[in-house]
Amino acid sequence: MPVNLQGRSFLKLLDFTSDEIRYLLDLSKEFKKLKLTRTPHRYLEGKNIAIVFEKTSTRTRCSFEVGAFDLGMNVTYIGPGSSQMGAKESIEDTVRVLGRFYDGIEYRGFSQDIVEEMGAKAGVPVWNGLTDDFHPTQMLADVMTIEENFGKLKGLNLTFMGDARNNVGNSLMVVSAKLGINFTACGPKELMPKEELVETCRKIAAENGSTITLTDDPKKGCKGAHAIYTDIWVSMGEPDNVWTERIKLLEKYRVTKDIMKMADEKAIFLHCLPSFHDTNTTIGQDIAKKFGVTEMEVADDVFESPQSKVFDEAENRMHTIKAVMYATLK
Ligand code: CP
Ligand code: NVA
Repeated sequence: MPVNLQGRSFLKLLDFTSDEIRYLLDLSKEFKKLKLTRTPHRYLEGKNIAIVFEKTSTRTRCSFEVGAFDLGMNVTYIGPGSSQMGAKESIEDTVRVLGRFYDGIEYRGFSQDIVEEMGAKAGVPVWNGLTDDFHPTQMLADVMTIEENFGKLKGLNLTFMGDARNNVGNSLMVVSAKLGINFTACGPKELMPKEELVETCRKIAAENGSTITLTDDPKKGCKGAHAIYTDIWVSMGEPDNVWTERIKLLEKYRVTKDIMKMADEKAIFLHCLPSFHDTNTTIGQDIAKKFGVTEMEVADDVFESPQSKVFDEAENRMHTIKAVMYATLK
């Protein structure tokens, strides 16, 4: 059946079929070729989008902006605390206004319910640029990067190390289930995805011939992995006072050279970024001073190794976000 995503919102990958996700990945590859050959592709000339960020961003914001510019669109950026939304005007009212001005709206914020409400009320496509629960545009870039390295997705093994119940851990489990990748969440029992989401993903994975595994044992979790993925230990929006406990819980799950050795010999390392792999950030320095930890979720020598594909992955954010905007607005 031909795939048509015109007019659809992109709120979470559970809303999309495997074929629809495949279609977005194929489109992303086309856009990457156009970008790399500097072939103009102003297919959405004259349309306008708003990108609303209640949390900070580098990659997602820039991907939406550059993607929109390349497609010939105009962009309004609304940063954290810079509009009436939330304080003086409800999400519902704000989105009904934005829907009159813009052809599409990106939203990065807190609960998934907010972006779902926006999708229901906007009257134009709404794209989830990260919530506390999910980060769906990130996933397209991640699986695109895996496919670029292995030439396939089905049957590969992907292991997420660390805070497996965060937005990235949850979303990797969903995209893996949808695309037939064997997914392992490797982390402490306290930080595993919710049982209900695990069960949903297990059913989807079974339909696509793959498995979902939860383990607190790094040896078991990383054995034979084709991609090892990690993310920061404390996500945006979480209070600073969780650092002490997180460091205690997660030190064992830092991706080191020894961890990479347990994986497949061709294994790659992925990270959504930003990453605390050294002390070249103010938070990194602060943590080093308070806890004596100079590398957090990933060791610097892994981050900087040839196995690390994190900057290809970051670049792919732009190609995949462009594909999402084009598919839903064309
Ligand atoms: N990976 C990601 O979403 O990065 P930003 O927070 O910089 O957008
Ligand atoms: N889990 C991280 C992802 C950042 C892209 C966060 O929510 O802060």
